[in-house]
Amino acid sequence: MRKRFIAGNWKMNMLQGEAGELARSMVQSIGDIAERVDVMIAPPYTSLGAVAEVVRDTKIMLGAQNVFWEDKGAFTGEISPGMIADSGCGWAIVGHSERRFILGETDEMVRKKIDACLRNGLKVVVCVGETLEQRESGETIEVVKRQTDSALSGLDLKDPSGLVIAYEPVWAIGTGKHATPDQAESVHGTLREITGNILSDLAGRIRIVYGGSVNEGNIKVLLAEENIDGALVGGASLKSDSMAEIIRTAGD
Ligand code: PGA
Repeated sequence: MRKRFIAGNWKMNMLQGEAGELARSMVQSIGDIAERVDVMIAPPYTSLGAVAEVVRDTKIMLGAQNVFWEDKGAFTGEISPGMIADSGCGWAIVGHSERRFILGETDEMVRKKIDACLRNGLKVVVCVGETLEQRESGETIEVVKRQTDSALSGLDLKDPSGLVIAYEPVWAIGTGKHATPDQAESVHGTLREITGNILSDLAGRIRIVYGGSVNEGNIKVLLAEENIDGALVGGASLKSDSMAEIIRTAGD
């Protein structure tokens, strides 16, 4: 049985004070539910310190929304895995579609980031997913297979709980139009097979979570599917009540 994983991606929102406030409110409202569900929040870099103070000694884990692949050097504006870990993070989100499409991140860059995280003891959420155009032209599986193969082939993964795949169809992100449970499960099942071909026995222990307009109203039906092990939540993770309800549902 895979432990459910719920992560909040706060994206480019909130100043330090607001981020600390939201984290405090989450700590209060989710209490011991985080014993039953792995909960991670990913504030912007500038608020990592403030949020780390709040979640220290709680079950809420801290993650960064991005990371660079080199350990140090002349890479203006980039943040290394060691710096993220030093800010209190145990996790990094890698390959989010907003980074792939707005910032031009390639499969190769995503892979280098995954390697760098694992080398530095960070756990990783790697995002894959198709655009609306790709879905409509029947390329969904081809796209997620290419992204997953590139992310995982030959990976030196010792602890399967340290890598989470987030299936995030681009057309469902921030649109209020989530994938139906059937649509999501069909891709999750295929991702489980693809992962099995690459990581053999470990694949059954890798969490595959869904992301894209998840909220407290749709989380239950999504989690009812066999291969949906949790969620990567964007907009709804900015509201502590909604996030608490999502986590509570995952813990039931
Ligand atoms: P959303 O974002 O929940 O606002 O759709 C999800 C994500 O981008 O991770």
